[in-house]
Amino acid sequence: SYVPVPADKFSFGLWTVGWQGRDPFGDATREPLDPVETVHRLAGLGAYGVTFHDDDLVPFGAPERVREAHVARFRKALEATGMAVPMATTNLFTHPVFKDGAFTANDREIRRFALRKTMRNIDLAAGLGAHTYVAWGGREGAESGAAKDVRAALDRLKEAFDLLAEYVTGQGYDLRFALEPKPNEPRGDLLLPTVGHALAFIGRLERPELFGVNPEVGHEQMAGLNYPHAIAQAIWAGKLFHLDLNGQSGVKYDQDLRFGAGDLRAAFWLVDLLEQSGYAGPRHFDFKPPRTEDTAGVWASAAGCMRNYLVLRERAAAFRADPAVQEALRAARVDELSRPTLGPQETPDALLADRAAFEDFDPAAAAERGMAFEHLDQLAMDHLLGV
Ligand code: GCO
Ligand code: MN
Ligand code: MN
Ligand code: MN
Repeated sequence: SYVPVPADKFSFGLWTVGWQGRDPFGDATREPLDPVETVHRLAGLGAYGVTFHDDDLVPFGAPERVREAHVARFRKALEATGMAVPMATTNLFTHPVFKDGAFTANDREIRRFALRKTMRNIDLAAGLGAHTYVAWGGREGAESGAAKDVRAALDRLKEAFDLLAEYVTGQGYDLRFALEPKPNEPRGDLLLPTVGHALAFIGRLERPELFGVNPEVGHEQMAGLNYPHAIAQAIWAGKLFHLDLNGQSGVKYDQDLRFGAGDLRAAFWLVDLLEQSGYAGPRHFDFKPPRTEDTAGVWASAAGCMRNYLVLRERAAAFRADPAVQEALRAARVDELSRPTLGPQETPDALLADRAAFEDFDPAAAAERGMAFEHLDQLAMDHLLGV
């Protein structure tokens, strides 16, 4: 059965089901959702966790007393349902003050405000038991060339994350950061546009061990990239701290469709990879129920995210367990790739001395061997389609 349970570790952002359907061309099509109701509804659907931006929970600029009241209600809902808060993040993009970005805004006062806004929500996140703090750049980027000195912006981004890491360490919080790449939207070009850029950036930070990535399906696909490959490299680098699951149909605006919509084959390979990899973190959905939907459609869409994950998990497991697939994997020599290319302690000189590797190697004969990938992929297709 495809009924989600907390052990599946599904989580949702308050802003996902709470999206009112405002887009650049049209007004909201739905009423706001009360975070307390969201927590109860998601728990009822079988999710284990809920995540939020500071402003999803407490309206921007609310006085301290109002803030405390919102947090207290939310905390009560968490306690009543047993829902966790595995992750939280900062809204550094909605208020007009962030029109030129936050940590990389040209205006220094705005950068300092952005840091304070983030530190304030980090305190709340830690207090609610979150272990991951996501940082999506939002409006860190530009539309035009001279407007943004990208090297200086990267200096400021590093400065911000070094400061936040120092803060978290000093406070003794058990919290790590997950940077979320995106190539464009809302700015024409965003900083840290892909998982690869983010991984390279993390290597320049003062406490790189506190930083990983939060790759989103649609964001890599907006750049025409292979999401499962990005996830595989993040896992390989020990940097998959969190991930945002949703759907996207090719290189176009950020669709944030429910998980499983859009590129279904990529979704299949993603679930196959995640389930095999031992990734134990949340399966977090960052999607937007289309603005065509009413409230019932919102919950149908959320349930669909989890159902599709469970269906794909079952299909991927059946694919791996099928003896015909195991034979096809051997025929495709997939296992051979796990064997090191060099012998134990083999040196460059030893490789040079191995005539079989070069002088006696027959490239024409090796080139003739088919790889049998098409047969293997068709078996995957059959399993995915349930035939
Ligand atoms: C997007 C982004 C956002 C962020 C979220 C966390 O779709 O552009 O994914 O949804 O994940 O705001 O900051
Ligand atoms: Mn996201
Ligand atoms: Mn997105
Ligand atoms: Mn989005």
